[in-house]
Amino acid sequence: MVVPTGVQALSLLPRCASDARRRGRLVRQCTQNPEVVVKQPVEIKRPEGKLGILLPGMGAVATTFIAGCMLARKGLGKPFGSLTQLGTIRLGKRTDKRSPFIRDFLPLASLDQVVFGGWDLFADSAYESARHAEVLQREHIDVIRDELEAVKPMQAVFYPEYVKRLHGTHIKSAPSKADMVEALRDDIRRFKRDNGCDRLVAVWCGSTEVYIEPGPVHASVAAFEKGLRENDPAISNSMMYAWACLKEGVPFANGAPNLTVDFPAVWDLARELNVPICGKDFKTGQTLMKTILAPGLKARMLGLSGWFSTNILGNRDGEVLDDPESFKSKEVSKLGVLHSILQPEVYPDLYEKMYHKVRIEYYPPRGDAKEGWDNLDIFGWLGYPMQIKVNFLCRDSILAAPIVLDLALLMDLAGRAKFHGTQEWLSFYFKSPMHAPGLYPEHDLFIQSMKLKNTMRWMMGEELITHLGNEYYD
Ligand SMILES: NC(=O)c1ccc[n+]([C@@H]2O[C@H](COP(=O)([O-])OP(=O)(O)OC[C@H]3O[C@@H](n4cnc5c(N)ncnc54)[C@H](O)[C@@H]3O)[C@@H](O)[C@H]2O)c1
Repeated sequence: MVVPTGVQALSLLPRCASDARRRGRLVRQCTQNPEVVVKQPVEIKRPEGKLGILLPGMGAVATTFIAGCMLARKGLGKPFGSLTQLGTIRLGKRTDKRSPFIRDFLPLASLDQVVFGGWDLFADSAYESARHAEVLQREHIDVIRDELEAVKPMQAVFYPEYVKRLHGTHIKSAPSKADMVEALRDDIRRFKRDNGCDRLVAVWCGSTEVYIEPGPVHASVAAFEKGLRENDPAISNSMMYAWACLKEGVPFANGAPNLTVDFPAVWDLARELNVPICGKDFKTGQTLMKTILAPGLKARMLGLSGWFSTNILGNRDGEVLDDPESFKSKEVSKLGVLHSILQPEVYPDLYEKMYHKVRIEYYPPRGDAKEGWDNLDIFGWLGYPMQIKVNFLCRDSILAAPIVLDLALLMDLAGRAKFHGTQEWLSFYFKSPMHAPGLYPEHDLFIQSMKLKNTMRWMMGEELITHLGNEYYD
């Protein structure tokens, strides 16, 4: 009998009789099927000591994140957008009036325990990089200048064919990709030792790489390791970072649409070594809006004949995405969302003819202050057409920074709870959530939010919330 673990087991829980309320109650027995045993965390190690957050890619998102954490712990800014810092979670019945802050409910590392590190192909410190990115104003970065200057990137693993628009010099050289992985592992161990860290976690904030389809080299751990030794061209930079992190037992989250931790070899390695992974592509800006609006249209059975999205942005990310091969990775990640939420195969009258187009235009004057336009052609009663226009003047890195924080803290928690492999419960944070083979990804932000919070309740031995609510009327 296969023992379901983690989130896959979640769907079984409401049928289970015993409610393991106390943390430490490890395993629940399901009364309907006594053979089915749902594993909950045995115990979650306390978040003692320092947590090192490693960021491969120290550009706009990474430096906005680092600076924001530094400002927040000095009381000079608030971490808006972060569920782990500001969100609450309801426990038990509505009449119980128990809604603690998530940060008090879960044993999470605090901002004071965090140290930052990373890699980049430009040698700029986090201060210089933040100045270059122009996301935060001088008044925000100058007050923490010394702290930011102390965060210096380690040399990158950078084969330029995967990100064609960048030309940096702060890079490692080694005869093979396998040697590159070893060099990264040395960096990780040195960083941990030099900074006195108890644990590490990594969040990929590097550029979007060219589109790569999973091939034979990605099929198994052995094939991948052979490919590393033989410099297989289907192994990109980000995959080498991920491999090195997993080998060092470091949980890895992928903020870009790259393949990075989403192929069979890396799933197997994560399972074998008991390390959590998640991805892909931070859900910010236009896709965030899509996953808020589309579930609403579907819930009300309103039809959609077309959704056209275009953006202008002028940061380094925009420059990289100006390369058609990198754009292809982003496009694939963005396009899947509507199809999966609206299910045209289930609702052909409403969504079968939907035309979905996404454009990203590099426009330097705007820097990180992106502007997105969406036109939705919808229809209602008897097919009468209507339109919705969304003009989102957003700040990409301002939306992405809290996601980096939440992912770092929750992946550290997942590691201490001994979760391993794909962490589907973190879909909430991604444009293109990783999922088990044979499952479709869950894109609807509200389902993702429920899944996230129920997983939090489950891991702490609290009752799951179904939102049924009929007990209040008996
Ligand atoms: N900003 C957002 O809202 C958002 C949303 C979703 C995804 N993302 C993704 O997050 C990533 C970071 O975005 P950003 O706006 O900070 O971009 P950025 O260009 O400012 O930063 C990326 C950094 O990664 C570095 N880099 C590239 N390849 C590297 C390698 N092999 N090793 C080490 N460093 C490397 C670059 O030099 C650059 O400094 C991008 O992939 C982007 O697509 C961003």
